[in-house]
Amino acid sequence: MKMNVEIKEGLEGIIACKTSISRVDIEDGKAVLEYRGYNIHDLARYSTYEETAYLLLFGELPTKKELKAFEEELKDLRDLPAQIIGLLTHLPPFTHPMVVLRTAISYLGSMDKEKHFMDYEHSIQKAKSLIAKIPTIIAYFHRIRTGQNLVHPNPDLGHAENFLYMLKGEVPDRIEARALDVDLILHADHELNASTFAARIAASTLADMYACVVAATGTLMGPLHGGAAQKVIEMLREIAVPWRAEEYVLKKLERKERIMGFGHRIYRNVMDPRTIELRNLAKKLAKMKDSKWFEIAEEVAKAVYKHKGLLPNVDFYSACVYACLGIPDDLFIPIFAMGRIAGWTAHIIEQYVNNRLIRPRALYIGEKGKKYIPLRERG
Ligand code: ACO
Repeated sequence: MKMNVEIKEGLEGIIACKTSISRVDIEDGKAVLEYRGYNIHDLARYSTYEETAYLLLFGELPTKKELKAFEEELKDLRDLPAQIIGLLTHLPPFTHPMVVLRTAISYLGSMDKEKHFMDYEHSIQKAKSLIAKIPTIIAYFHRIRTGQNLVHPNPDLGHAENFLYMLKGEVPDRIEARALDVDLILHADHELNASTFAARIAASTLADMYACVVAATGTLMGPLHGGAAQKVIEMLREIAVPWRAEEYVLKKLERKERIMGFGHRIYRNVMDPRTIELRNLAKKLAKMKDSKWFEIAEEVAKAVYKHKGLLPNVDFYSACVYACLGIPDDLFIPIFAMGRIAGWTAHIIEQYVNNRLIRPRALYIGEKGKKYIPLRERG
């Protein structure tokens, strides 16, 4: 291969596929994010996670009747097979919940005798099952590792509300349930982010849906992607009081360290539309719960902008939202996955329907044509 080929490190700006699932654009200096043509702000204001998941999977907003049927199907699919509960019981309690989730999804795949059917109907069925079961996996593992009795899914409750109920053992109030619902809507899809790309690469080999979701789950966990949300709350805990924020930021920047929850490959100088919504949510919840996290976060955001010109990303204020909801720090990334599963599965299906193997090239920069020396002569 010629040495003068242009390499886009990190594939920045490369258009790798066509999609009709979500659109990220910068228009008139403002960022736009749409799912299937619907603006994220409208969805956050008027929709539910179930409605949004339906939209992502089927391409259209549901009618009342379609939504009711979809919600009922999800409720029917929430229970976990006994083997998965056994797995959750046997995993060491110190296992990171993202590793638990990845392992449980893989196990679910091993139990699905139809996992290799990739036609549309089977794929949609698997997607619904994963959307419904992921909250149960997360909540059950947390109850098990903390020695509490399992709280089984409650069919009277919606998706977000039921998750908080299974996690904490109490039906959450309406504001808390709606806050998580909106958070899940905002996390449901985001074009060709790293974990979705990982899922699509796996799908392009015609790997089964569970394998694709395992690839996505592993990719989401990294701190430069979804893992940042957990790092944000760890940072806010370390700062502890608003007046220490600027000093903390300056020290980090001096050491050339990254400040988690800031920067984005696409939203360089414009605010991520999800961040706008999440900041509003975090502010409202902090007031309601008399929590200090929002105030500290605001000081961090001011300092990072002042000294590095970077804006907060989706993980920054979502960390404040989860902390205000009393969610343990290491469940922040699994909750991201709980929202993103709708987008991942929609992308996997889109890849299956119009597939071509994703196989880019690399420019080789190592040594060439070396003479092989047998082991006995190498000393
Ligand atoms: N803290 C400090 N400096 C940063 C940060 C940050 N969080 N993000 C970017 N920069 C700086 C880089 O050091 C670089 O500065 P320089 O030009 O002075 O060398 C410049 O901004 C450009 O950075 P890149 O690395 O080119 O940006 P890239 O698009 O590759 O990275 C990323 C994007 C990974 C999100 C980056 O901003 C980052 O590491 N952020 C922190 C982790 C994080 O919050 N991830 C979540 C992203 S949202 C999501 O995935 C859900």
